[in-house]
Amino acid sequence: ERFFGEKELLQGKKVLVTAGGTVERIDPVRYLTNDSSGKMGFAIAEAARLMGADVTLVVGKASVQTPEGVRTVRVESAQDMLEAVVGRLPEMDIVIKAAAVADYRPAEQAEQKIKKKDAEMTLKLVKNSDILQTIGSLKTKQFIVGFAAETQSIDEHAMDKLKRKNCDLLVANDVTQEGAGFGHDTNVVRIYDRSGLVEALPVMSKREVARHLLLTVADRIRKGD
Ligand code: CTP
Ligand code: CA
Repeated sequence: ERFFGEKELLQGKKVLVTAGGTVERIDPVRYLTNDSSGKMGFAIAEAARLMGADVTLVVGKASVQTPEGVRTVRVESAQDMLEAVVGRLPEMDIVIKAAAVADYRPAEQAEQKIKKKDAEMTLKLVKNSDILQTIGSLKTKQFIVGFAAETQSIDEHAMDKLKRKNCDLLVANDVTQEGAGFGHDTNVVRIYDRSGLVEALPVMSKREVARHLLLTVADRIRKGD
């Protein structure tokens, strides 16, 4: 059924993967972030390399080692990640956005360490640009895969994100499910395209999820989606 060996499936393709969590600075020694380990994105980068792709990994804060054999670009904030991704978009064939991007950042970043004063303090946050939505609106030939972390109404939220952000595929995980999400070596995902649910995968290692996802992407690209 598949005409190419897996090692050549993505030969000649330029793939950009984002992974990890972003870091939003409050002052020189403090920041806001999330529990993303980077594992899912790293597994995707590795799987793409094993299929012969030229892989660029844009990575924020991660708690595991970055994979070998992929070009790694380190970023801190969502704004940095946006620049790194948008700047490289024209040359890419496939973009996979597995990073956990902070939705908000502190409205101001203090240049000096903030001193404690009153019994209460308020931290004002402002919304970050949506990187996936931005590339969805700029894309020309690129095949775009988004992610979604959900705790309820997964199908509905996933389809809404896919359409709003103009993705070709969207991978959603129910983070409340056993064996899924942040920090785990396994994941339970549902894959959607513009017409709805494509596949609901069982509990799999993140490496297996990555391979499965890239086989699907390669298939779709070959069929000219
Ligand atoms: N994403 C992004 N830029 C942001 C926020 C999210 O690129 N500022 C991307 C993530 O990398 C992921 C997808 O959007 O691929 C979905 O992230 P998610 O947090 O599930 O969705 P949001 O649109 O942020 O909605 P919400 O958090 O309210 O569910
Ligand atoms: Ca979010």
